[in-house]
Amino acid sequence: MRKTVIAGNWKMNLSEKEALSLAHSIKEKIPAISKGRISMIFPSTLHLAGVAKILQGTEILVGAQNVYPSGLAAFTGETSPEQLKELGVKVVMIGHSERRQFLGETNSFCNEKIHFLLKNDFIVLYCVGETLMERESGKTFEVISSQIREGLKGIHSHSFSNLILAYEPVWAIGTGKVATPAQAQEVHFFIRKEIAGLFLGAKEIAESISILYGGSVKPDNIQTLLKEKDLDGGLVGGASQKIDTYAGLF
Ligand code: G3H
Repeated sequence: MRKTVIAGNWKMNLSEKEALSLAHSIKEKIPAISKGRISMIFPSTLHLAGVAKILQGTEILVGAQNVYPSGLAAFTGETSPEQLKELGVKVVMIGHSERRQFLGETNSFCNEKIHFLLKNDFIVLYCVGETLMERESGKTFEVISSQIREGLKGIHSHSFSNLILAYEPVWAIGTGKVATPAQAQEVHFFIRKEIAGLFLGAKEIAESISILYGGSVKPDNIQTLLKEKDLDGGLVGGASQKIDTYAGLF
């Protein structure tokens, strides 16, 4: 039985006051939040400490949107997993399309980060997805295949229990244009097939890993999406920054 995971990515949004106030409101709403799901919030790095403190001891996991794969060292502007641990942060998002597109993050750098994090007992939410141009030129599966094969290269079978995947078609992010359930299902199925092909015995892992869909997810479309066989949750951007949507989404 795969776990249903709903993750909220606040990206580089909200002032400190807004982020902390949203965290307090989420805490109050926890009784209304669906049971039996894993809920995660990813505030900006600057707000991690404050949000993690507010949600400490609750069922909501607080995660980081990025990390540098090193212990404490001279990497100006970066954050070490060691520093995240101190805050009680156990989940890190890797490979979000905004980092790939605007910050030049490659599959191989994602792979380095994933190795480092899994070795240090973090849960990793690894994001993949094609751009509109890639989809329109018939490259969707080729792109996803490289992101899976290169991003997850050399990951040991026993570490997969700490991995969650997210499929986010870039053309559906923040555009209001949601992938149809059939479009999302087709790619989620493909992702599972790619994972099954990673190494001998990976078929079982592919069946048990949670794959979230991201791209304009809202309370009014999440249920339809979750009806698809290979969709196990949502990675929510815009809607996760509004408290009103929490009871319907998380
Ligand atoms: O990480 C979240 C995604 O990029 C989706 O963002 O829900 O605003 O489309 P969105």
